[in-house]
Amino acid sequence: MELDQVLEKRRSIRKYAKGGKVSPELVKKFVSAALVAPSWKNTETARYHAVLSPEKIQALREKAFGAWNFQCTENVQALVVSTFVKNISGYRKDGTPDNELENGWGIYDAGLQNSVFLLKAAEAGIDTLVMGIRDASAIRELLEIPENEVILSVIALGERAETPEKPHRKNPEDVVKFY
Ligand SMILES: Cc1cc2nc3c(=O)[nH]c(=O)nc-3n(C[C@H](O)[C@H](O)[C@H](O)COP(=O)(O)O)c2cc1C
Repeated sequence: MELDQVLEKRRSIRKYAKGGKVSPELVKKFVSAALVAPSWKNTETARYHAVLSPEKIQALREKAFGAWNFQCTENVQALVVSTFVKNISGYRKDGTPDNELENGWGIYDAGLQNSVFLLKAAEAGIDTLVMGIRDASAIRELLEIPENEVILSVIALGERAETPEKPHRKNPEDVVKFY
């Protein structure tokens, strides 16, 4: 599939069909593609906690999501928690930050990777929903995520049971300034 087609196909999906083909191998394939993304001094601090067990998915939905994201994730086949190891990307070897963004660079790197992850999933016919509205403490406790990792989003994976309208986007003229 051409990149333009993949970009067009990816939508945030909030209604999923039962069953499907998401597997650890497929998640690994998306992570493998994500790892091609650039990162600060090639530090690669992004991490993925992939939950495919139905019991654990249910526990995460119940304990870490509010009513909206709980409803949006019915029938999802996997929940992938996106994190990054803090105080490395954007930092010098002596532990001091290179500039004012500090751990913002770790978030930046993870975002670049996550974007590739979403597109690779879309290319494989797997739909996704990035969720930033989540309880990080509940996720950390449930999955025993170490304290040196900052919890970012939870990415739901499954197969769509709806075809949502394409949301409005700004035009390039609205966001680009040429000098
Ligand atoms: C960082 C981030 C956090 C988001 N959090 C949520 C969320 O908690 N729940 C939700 O339903 N959608 C969430 N979304 C999805 C956005 O609402 C969605 O990407 C946006 O409306 C554009 O739609 P599209 O992804 O179909 O292009 C989030 C997206 C991003 C990038």
